[in-house]
Amino acid sequence: MDPHVHDGEAMAESALRPGSLSEFAGQARVSDQLGLVLDAARHRGSVPDHVLLSGPPGLGKTTLAMIIAAELSSPIRISSGPAIQHAGDLAAILSGLTEGEVFFLDEIHRMSRPAEEMLYLAMEDFRVDVVVGKGPGATAIPLEIPRFTMVGATTRAGLLPGPLRDRFGFTAQLDFYDTAALRSIVRRSSGLLGITLEPGTDEVIASRSRGTPRIANRLLRRVRDYAQVRADGRLSVAVAKAALELYEVDELGLDRLDRAVLSALCERFGGGPVGVSTLAMAVGEERETVEEVAEPFLVRQGFLMRTPRGRVATARGWAHLGLTMPNSAAPDLFGAAD
Ligand SMILES: Nc1ncnc2c1ncn2[C@@H]1O[C@H](COP(=O)(O)OP(=O)(O)OP(=O)(O)O)[C@@H](O)[C@H]1O
Ligand SMILES: [Mg+2]
Repeated sequence: MDPHVHDGEAMAESALRPGSLSEFAGQARVSDQLGLVLDAARHRGSVPDHVLLSGPPGLGKTTLAMIIAAELSSPIRISSGPAIQHAGDLAAILSGLTEGEVFFLDEIHRMSRPAEEMLYLAMEDFRVDVVVGKGPGATAIPLEIPRFTMVGATTRAGLLPGPLRDRFGFTAQLDFYDTAALRSIVRRSSGLLGITLEPGTDEVIASRSRGTPRIANRLLRRVRDYAQVRADGRLSVAVAKAALELYEVDELGLDRLDRAVLSALCERFGGGPVGVSTLAMAVGEERETVEEVAEPFLVRQGFLMRTPRGRVATARGWAHLGLTMPNSAAPDLFGAAD
């Protein structure tokens, strides 16, 4: 789970989570491929390959993990990398699984090293080695575990060691959603929440959701709040625009953090190149947040580039802030890495 999501939001989210692949909007390729993996396993009456889900926060990794279990009519066991500090924690979970169970491990890149090694073996041979005793007399007793399907989720596939990545039979890389998919998500959610949207309102919300279903649902709730308090409950285009302006979401969906990163890059570092840690410090955020939340969207919008020498603002990025890119900011992209 995203640590930045508080409980109220987590509850609101679970109410809106699609429960099957057919309700899961967008990501057509991933959805097709995953559907095939699951169908094939069902036909064979066997347990499907392990699945790795990667992509920025809020794009549907947890949702897909739950859908996998639902489509297989299997129970699901949920844990996360930071919760597994010792190999023993993992051994306890694995040995408690039932045949065919889905084991969802969120933030898999944050698991401890020894646990990771135990997981290799478990995924490959459905076996764990339990170490009994200490020192030179310690022995490893192999313990068979039921066949399970591992579903790993990560915002940073690049941080997973090769051997772990290789043990997943199917990797789904989730990408930002297009406006059409987000519109259908907004419409579905408004139906579930009993909200009536006037024509065009779905488009306003969708196009400012920075390609992210979680944000689309969040903005929908904020627009509803605004409509109830300031506009007699009418969810019109004008009301949606006024609400989103109040919440500092611009026409392209950039929020306060996105803009802070882009303006720091342009105004304080002359457009870069600058290291991501420095940039994070300048906006008072964790490096991970800048790297995993703001950057992927800014890159996708063509506002920022990752280069070997650091982050660089593009002409488009400067223009979005209403600034002119100075000539001296034309970056030497191909210089030596530092
Ligand atoms: N394809 C989709 N169709 C409809 N709703 C979606 C879709 N993907 C995600 N959502 C909605 O967005 C919310 C966030 O999705 P989810 O929790 O699965 O994201 P995540 O990738 O696991 O994020 P994080 O990296 O923060 O854990 C869900 O509550 C769900 O309602
Ligand atoms: Mg999640």
